[in-house]
Amino acid sequence: MISESNKVLDESRQGEAITLEQTGAGNGKKFYLESYGCQMNFSDSEIVASILAKEGYETTRNPEEANLVLLNTCSIRENAEQRVRNRLNHFNVIKKRNPKYMIGILGCMAERLKAKLLEEEKLVDIVVGPDAYRELPGLIEEVEDGRKAVNVLLSREETYAEINPIRLNSNGITAFISIMRGCDNMCSFCVVPFTRGRERSRDPESIVHEAKYLHDQGYKEVTLLGQNVDSYRWNISKKGEIIEPEKETVNFAQLLEKVALVAPDLRIRFSTSHPKDMTDDVLHTMAKYENICEYIHLPVQSGSTTMLKRMNRGYSREWYMDRIAAIRRIMPDCAISTDIITGFCGETEEEHQDTLSLMKDVAYEFAYMFKYSERPKTLAERKYQDDVPEEVKQRRLEEVIEIQNANGLMRNKASVGKTFEVLVEGVSKKSENELFGRNSQNAVVVFERGDVQPGTYVNVKVTDCTSATLKGELVA
Ligand code: SAH
Ligand code: SF4
Ligand code: F3S
Repeated sequence: MISESNKVLDESRQGEAITLEQTGAGNGKKFYLESYGCQMNFSDSEIVASILAKEGYETTRNPEEANLVLLNTCSIRENAEQRVRNRLNHFNVIKKRNPKYMIGILGCMAERLKAKLLEEEKLVDIVVGPDAYRELPGLIEEVEDGRKAVNVLLSREETYAEINPIRLNSNGITAFISIMRGCDNMCSFCVVPFTRGRERSRDPESIVHEAKYLHDQGYKEVTLLGQNVDSYRWNISKKGEIIEPEKETVNFAQLLEKVALVAPDLRIRFSTSHPKDMTDDVLHTMAKYENICEYIHLPVQSGSTTMLKRMNRGYSREWYMDRIAAIRRIMPDCAISTDIITGFCGETEEEHQDTLSLMKDVAYEFAYMFKYSERPKTLAERKYQDDVPEEVKQRRLEEVIEIQNANGLMRNKASVGKTFEVLVEGVSKKSENELFGRNSQNAVVVFERGDVQPGTYVNVKVTDCTSATLKGELVA
């Protein structure tokens, strides 16, 4: 009925900010939702919207007219949390004028800080962790009755499998599907295992069902989400044993195949792959199906084996380079992106140089690059000194960025003259007369619109590029 918007500010993948649009029908109860952090949070917000819609809530883009404001938050780095605190202060100004106004915090910061923001800092009325969203309606009622409400219980089972997410900000073309939750990896710098709990996989049938449903609705691309998709397993124990012999077992390669078979014109992407777990099986499945995109996000974090050991990543530089070689062997045209952290505990100049040399060797299409930010409770916080001075972290980050900028430009230049199949996503921000979309390799391609519609596949010949985008023209 009403088209409204919410915001997603991507903190784990710096630089992206997405505005959400949604339609909904309600009975006067309105909520405003902002999401921060990774795609998992974005996807969770769609589950939250679905749970609230059942209670008669509709969304609004104006926080002043909402009676419930929700922030779905991220704890990955300190600045992510600071941003949320600033927003909470802002909403508390509105609350001063309107005491009935409810402010709720969801997601990773809620899980990490639990009742602290409510009891000590008095910044919120509701605190709900990532596994407790089903309880949200009851918690809202408690607040309406004059109490404060907290539920931060983590679960070993919750996957929200049967909840049909309300697509926020939908372009009607691309959508996320969560395939698992939590993380068991314990990388020493990372707060996620503490905020998201134990790793668990979602029923493959419900995943395929959701993909089919989206395709029926006209969607053309789904991205399967998990912190480590390669450890997706259904009816298989951690040790690799079958749990219930009469039931089907499904690993990630098999899940990919199932989703690829939903429809040939439904593109499949996924994130995040983990270098220690990514198998050749997955790569062969990708190569086998035209509609599985030739793009892998394979975070390396550091190019130094000694550093990777301190990070508890579970692989060496050599192992990582072997995985890169496997990708190139099985899918020569596959694009690869990564995440890098500079200035992690004890990082020597030599270890930093190893990161630079690895980046030169791999020549990533794209990279997300961060300065290390110490997080409470993590292995690194307990075991190591955050001893790299801020200016050294910063200088190293700039050196990493410089190499990536050169790599990105080189990769894009190599695409000039080639023709790609592009899924058209919408009108270019820069010009009404131009459309943009992505090729299989996830590169953004801009071209003159002709009589082409968003949501269709077109062939575009690349004629020019910047370090960020490809420019091209439609070909038959
Ligand atoms: N599950 C994904 C990453 C999730 S977090 C994986 O294993 O690759 C996204 C990225 O944030 C990480 O890859 C890492 O590069 C970065 N990151 C995580 N913790 C961080 C910290 N404490 N300081 C700086 N960057 C961090
Ligand atoms: Fe964090 Fe490592 Fe899990 Fe990724 S794999 S979420 S970096 S602990
Ligand atoms: Fe942030 Fe939580 Fe995602 S810490 S990166 S929102 S899993």
